[in-house]
Amino acid sequence: MTPNEFLQRTALQQADLLIKDATLLTPAGEQQADVAVIAGRIAALGAANWQADKVLDAKGLHLLPGVIDTQVHFREPGLTHKEDIAHGSKGAVLGGVTGFFEMPNTNPLTLSASCLQEKLTIAAKHSYCHYAFYIGGSAANLGQLATLEQLPGCAGIKVFMGSSFGDLLAEQDELLLKILQDGRRRVAIHAEDEARLRQRKTLTGGDVANHPLWRDAKSALLATRRIIALAEQTDRPLHILHVSTAEEMAYLAAFKHRVTVETTPHHLTLVAPDCYQRLGSLAQMNPPVRDALHQQGLWQGIADGTVDILGSDHAPHTLAEKNQAYPDSPSGMTGVQTLLPVMLNHVAKGRLSLQRLVDLTSSSPARIFGLTGKGRLAVGYDADFTLVDLKAQRQIDNSWIASKAGWTPYHGEQVTGWPIATVIGGQVAMQHDEILTGPIGKPFLFADGLVNT
Ligand code: DOR
Repeated sequence: MTPNEFLQRTALQQADLLIKDATLLTPAGEQQADVAVIAGRIAALGAANWQADKVLDAKGLHLLPGVIDTQVHFREPGLTHKEDIAHGSKGAVLGGVTGFFEMPNTNPLTLSASCLQEKLTIAAKHSYCHYAFYIGGSAANLGQLATLEQLPGCAGIKVFMGSSFGDLLAEQDELLLKILQDGRRRVAIHAEDEARLRQRKTLTGGDVANHPLWRDAKSALLATRRIIALAEQTDRPLHILHVSTAEEMAYLAAFKHRVTVETTPHHLTLVAPDCYQRLGSLAQMNPPVRDALHQQGLWQGIADGTVDILGSDHAPHTLAEKNQAYPDSPSGMTGVQTLLPVMLNHVAKGRLSLQRLVDLTSSSPARIFGLTGKGRLAVGYDADFTLVDLKAQRQIDNSWIASKAGWTPYHGEQVTGWPIATVIGGQVAMQHDEILTGPIGKPFLFADGLVNT
């Protein structure tokens, strides 16, 4: 639809979709108003006299700008027995998530324009929500990163400083420095110090409860300090993924001119040693879930603003794989579908406000990565919405999980707060736990001059 047609339809007050009686989470705060959608965009907030082809009754519910999960592993191509883009994105939509950034440790690794294109082609056919893909930064594609990071549909460059799952690794300072010099967009970092991880591997002792001892807090802090020093030298912005320690959180607060900070629902929710006793290797994740003192440090970062973004780090492995003896059991757990219910439960318990949750899952992803049309309930913005019932009491169950892996570490947990509908580009993609559309996702547009094909 052309801008002029949009204006004409707006003048006629004729919408494709009208969301009635929700409490809206707008940049100006909470507001009670009807929302009119035309051609996938917000045409009006406060649309009392509008007509519409479809009306969504949202009385008693809260309407958030669409939740964006900026860290998932959807395993396609190459590892589709664990997950694929269709299942992963269905899980996203069922969990109230309207878009994702996907990580490059697939098979083959996403290191080239053709590998990125392959993922974009699969997503165009199979993704139920919006998408972008990271390209891995490594010795193999050094010198090309400045070009690769500008490609449409690319979320940026991702670097693994410590090996986690797959072969993607950039360990030495010399290589990291060159990666940071090659390009200008924000680089996403998995910060664990590989040399220290290698030294300490003997501490695993065949017991998953030792996972945070092997991959200890110092391994994470060391890597975070190293990469920040290199980024200061090269004047490159960073995004530190899945921060798991109190020490890093305090350190990162002094470098907000340089870094944005992610933490995850599992680091905020599960706690050692309890999680390893209850869940065994299902709680095994890199960086590890740590003890209550670290968790308090992460919550402090949520409270004081050091944390910018919550990513799920959805990293599915099959139960058979997870059941191998530790440390052969792979690290990773599902998370894209439970990100919002788990965090709404924290809202219900008063640990953060709904407004702050919107900041962490929608406004900040859009602001930090420069996503066109996303992250705000505002006229002209894209009609990607997450409609939630803050009072709904539900039990998270493996049978609800769409991931090919088929399990969640939160199986059996009671939560208060649930996604009731997911709206993607003005279409109701999920309502009452049912997927209602086909794969309608589109590539995210990045505002820094990048256009999509
Ligand atoms: O535990 C993890 N698993 N952490 C990561 O960073 C990678 C992930 C995976 O891909 O399985």
